[in-house]
Amino acid sequence: MNVLVTGAGGGIGRVVVAELAAGGHAVVALDRAGAGIPAGDGGAAAIHVGDCRDGALVRTALAGADAVVHLAGVPAPGIVPDPELFAGNTQATFTVLDEAVRAGVRRVVTASSVSILGAAWAEDHVSPLYLPLDEAHPLRPREAYALAKQCDEATEAMFCRRDGIAVVALRFPFTDTSAAIAARAARVAEDPAEGSRELWAYLDVRDAARACRLAVEATVAPGFHPVYVVADDTLAPLPTEQLVRAFHPETELRAPLPGRRTAYATARAVALLGFRAAHPRG
Ligand SMILES: NC(=O)c1ccc[n+]([C@@H]2O[C@H](COP(=O)([O-])OP(=O)(O)OC[C@H]3O[C@@H](n4cnc5c(N)ncnc54)[C@H](O)[C@@H]3O)[C@@H](O)[C@H]2O)c1
Repeated sequence: MNVLVTGAGGGIGRVVVAELAAGGHAVVALDRAGAGIPAGDGGAAAIHVGDCRDGALVRTALAGADAVVHLAGVPAPGIVPDPELFAGNTQATFTVLDEAVRAGVRRVVTASSVSILGAAWAEDHVSPLYLPLDEAHPLRPREAYALAKQCDEATEAMFCRRDGIAVVALRFPFTDTSAAIAARAARVAEDPAEGSRELWAYLDVRDAARACRLAVEATVAPGFHPVYVVADDTLAPLPTEQLVRAFHPETELRAPLPGRRTAYATARAVALLGFRAAHPRG
């Protein structure tokens, strides 16, 4: 397939470009920072440097595309002022979806986030209503980044409803290289409060890239498909239920979480995409 990857110069995007190219897809990359994007054999066939809010640029980059993997966005609160983060991320997503539909693209994969639940970057301590945490759990944003992700998902659902396309919104947790994951796991081992907001979830960037490829390739019905994509275990050395009792004592436990099992439900990722994380932390 011909696949446009936005945010192709980012930590996740670079690995996605290589993963798609290795899978036999023809990749076109778009990022407002052009450095570091894999190019040529094993990388992107073309690179467009510019902003996703520039509809004319996105239109050019979409020529001949069958699918889009939309990763571009400011990836956390605090990097730019909140109004800029909210307006920039949501406008970029609307523009990419709008242009994709006009170009006849029927499959879009987006990087959503577990932050959409509202706990990850909240100033106050927010516990989930129940665990395992699945896609039916209410979204309760408390800051600009999570709200922008919720708006992005609403935008994507609108285009699915109106234009009959399929969008897979991959809700990633803390996603990074194995070295960065090991470093964070060491901090969590010292203080399990670290990571408690995200329920100690993580994902190796190679698994995130594979999830993107599978979401491009999977047979998926038209419509909007949000899905949690996380490693099967946690960053913490302690049993998950012990951590939940300590940090989220009010949360209803609807099913056992034996050993160090993730507190997120992984069933939809398996059913929709055939995805299971293959790179557990060392
Ligand atoms: N890394 C994580 O832990 C994590 C977790 C959950 C979700 N996500 C999401 O995954 C996506 C990629 O994250 P990342 O970790 O690779 O971040 P990153 O900052 O490394 O990469 C983002 C890339 O997008 C580009 N970009 C940002 N806004 C743009 C715009 N308007 N137009 C064009 N390019 C733009 C940046 O130049 C950058 O190269 C983001 O949407 C982020 O919110 C990341």
